[in-house]
Amino acid sequence: MTESYQTHEYDVVVIGAGGAGLRAAIEASRNGAKTAIITKSLLGKAHTVMAEGGCAASLQNADPRDGWKVHFHDTMKGSKWLADWRMAEIHAKEAPDRVRELEQWGAVFDRTDKQLINQRNFGGHTFPRLAHVGDSTGLEIIRTLQERGIHEGIDIFMEYTVRHLTKSGDRVTGCVAYTRVEGSFHAFSAKTVILATGGITRCWSVCSGSWEYTGDGHALALWAGAELRDMEFVQFHPTGMVWPPSVRGILVTEGVRGEGGRLTNNENKRFMFDYVPEMFMGDHAETIEEADQWVEEVVSGKLATVRRPPELLTRDVVAKAIKAEVEAGRGSPHGGAFLDISHRGEEAIKKKLPSMYHQFMELAEVDITKDPMEVGPTAHYVMGGIRVNASTQETTVPGLYACGEAASGLHGANRLGGNSLSDLITFGKRAGEYAAKSSKSLEQPILDESEIQSAIKQMLSPLENQNGENPGQIYDEMRDMMQQKVGIIRQKDELEEAIEELNSFKQRAMKSSSGTSRTYNSGWHQALDLRNMVDVSVACTLAALTREESRGGHTRQDMPEPEDDYWGKHINIIWMENDEVKIRQEEVEPMSGELQSVIAEVKDMIAKRAEEQGGSA
Ligand code: FUM
Repeated sequence: MTESYQTHEYDVVVIGAGGAGLRAAIEASRNGAKTAIITKSLLGKAHTVMAEGGCAASLQNADPRDGWKVHFHDTMKGSKWLADWRMAEIHAKEAPDRVRELEQWGAVFDRTDKQLINQRNFGGHTFPRLAHVGDSTGLEIIRTLQERGIHEGIDIFMEYTVRHLTKSGDRVTGCVAYTRVEGSFHAFSAKTVILATGGITRCWSVCSGSWEYTGDGHALALWAGAELRDMEFVQFHPTGMVWPPSVRGILVTEGVRGEGGRLTNNENKRFMFDYVPEMFMGDHAETIEEADQWVEEVVSGKLATVRRPPELLTRDVVAKAIKAEVEAGRGSPHGGAFLDISHRGEEAIKKKLPSMYHQFMELAEVDITKDPMEVGPTAHYVMGGIRVNASTQETTVPGLYACGEAASGLHGANRLGGNSLSDLITFGKRAGEYAAKSSKSLEQPILDESEIQSAIKQMLSPLENQNGENPGQIYDEMRDMMQQKVGIIRQKDELEEAIEELNSFKQRAMKSSSGTSRTYNSGWHQALDLRNMVDVSVACTLAALTREESRGGHTRQDMPEPEDDYWGKHINIIWMENDEVKIRQEEVEPMSGELQSVIAEVKDMIAKRAEEQGGSA
């Protein structure tokens, strides 16, 4: 029996309506393409809002010594030198213009005394670099892009979940979706498609992402024959809420530490001083007085002339330090660390961190102007994702583009905080522009009826399965397993067990049943989400098992050191064949001579700066 469906025709279809999707759609439309956005959620409800503390761009407002070269260096260093250096160069050069453009479109950034966009410090950035709006930067960016998008004449399909990308030969020709509200089916013919679906962090039970982050774009790309890279690198943000249980994982912005927040253990010790790795020696304060002096200088608007506090080491280092303190019995009552900002005073806290103030007051009954927060690591971001061309954002499948967290390359083994918002505006724009330009020379695709019917059949299968398990049960078990076995610290035998268990979760997911109703049936949505999550989790686990070393967002207890000879020069590439996830390694292309000189120049500048401060670089 064939199912009925509605058809739609567009030049460019953007899947996902967070910052990357909105920015891509705006650019596609500005380039004359008839553009649609499809989102499984509501417009404006996106993980972009969880990038609270700021958007990194070398505007040079806080420190004139900053510039694209320093931002490029910091991003490459943060990535443990595995980032696609072409993307890192484009990003560092173009981010300032993208931020100024947002300002022109109405984004209300915090200001310096001279009425310039204010910039705050974040881990791994040599200078204060994050343009911010209190602690709601992502929200303001989404608001601005939404308003701008409305005036571009983009069609928006809300609460539509895309389950299949259609193809003709090698080329993507559109997609098939169902509506979450009443379960109707829709086929979109599109000359080009952009995946901007965000991340995958719902695969872990403690995460900062909402229900949407089930790896839809990653899975759609895999199923359509595209390649992923760097899937072992998952960022556990050091500070999520740990109490009460209902809010565990919700983000506590790095902006708290950027504004001088101090991490302590249950012995009231500022433990991060014990965890400064060799690569950061000289960049960070060695004494509490020096760390506090830095805060004074930054918040009073003077240049940052002293070393930063160790709370602003990169996220991988801080997350692992908190975990180590908890395991050593020095954690807070609910299994985290204490994060205290109360010394900054009520007025400053309410001005710079208003959302954090309300979040803790309302969700945990903690007044952060007086008492410390309890915080611990939370799965926040995946550095890995769909492999794209650095310049055009086209994937390895013609006609298919990706941007934002769904894409990969810019962050390598570890992303610097603030580089996600700048990533999504920089590469969202590029994806929209190139997808629109390419669509100009293409005919409107005619979709294949049997392909559409087969996609619909797949979508309906959880409603037709008899006596299967409840998908919610499998969903919870699988997330707990990923948290335990593919979490911050991994080891070979657990990763091998995880692969086995994921195979069994996949069998169970395919047979799960969710009742028969198509209307408001959340079990049906979850049964379908599980299919993405399982394939994406296998991709992460296989990459983590294969990378026999520790680097950035991937730590192996059985191989705790970085191994530079092989793994320092190779990335994992993932693809799918006959429903099986495959892996191979590719050598990282050596950086151009010109950019190697840029890195040397910046290193030299940082060394001189450290010398002036009486330390070593
Ligand atoms: O901590 C934060 O505000 C998060 C920012 C980011 O992930 O870029």
